[in-house]
Amino acid sequence: MDSDSMAPGEVIYSEEDIAQRTAGLAREINAAIPDGNLHVIITQKGALYFGVDLIRALGRRVTIGFITASSYGDGMESSGEVQLRSEDTGEITARRVLIVEDIIDTGRTLQSVVNTIRSRKPASVHTVAFIDKPARREVAIDADFVGFSAEDVFLVGYGLDHAEAYRELPCIRSFEP
Ligand code: IMP
Ligand code: MG
Repeated sequence: MDSDSMAPGEVIYSEEDIAQRTAGLAREINAAIPDGNLHVIITQKGALYFGVDLIRALGRRVTIGFITASSYGDGMESSGEVQLRSEDTGEITARRVLIVEDIIDTGRTLQSVVNTIRSRKPASVHTVAFIDKPARREVAIDADFVGFSAEDVFLVGYGLDHAEAYRELPCIRSFEP
């Protein structure tokens, strides 16, 4: 597919869908991990928007870290090789960690981030992904909390990019010819 001739198309998740589901996820997470401090690690850059909105919705004490993983380059298919480009994860040992992902596709990015965090001996690790594309999975990993289960279509907006473009769109749209 020639991505130069493609553009954001149909709205898949509106701003209202996003806000409602984020509030629901926050309730699920707070019920599962009720007390104490949560160390939230946002995977960059895709989960920036969702991560910040989720933290607001959680409405509790958190500390925040970041990790940047990349497997896509400018394409629409995972290269299969995940690079951890930079990290500012904060202290992890003996803490309760929530890893925030934008979208799970092959599963390689989440797997790599989870392995990295687990190697630092946290007290617990939970994962939340705003969108899951289960049909595309190549490695056996699922998030503990999932916002929406999506069809196998490429999505842009609300932090999701194509070649770094369209992250700023307020809703999530398909990316089509
Ligand atoms: P995975 O390693 O194949 O699971 O890919 C996960 C990462 O690829 C996500 O964190 C996104 O950054 C990116 N990605 C996967 N699907 C999409 C999509 O539909 N639109 C934009 N980025 C995507
Ligand atoms: Mg990502």
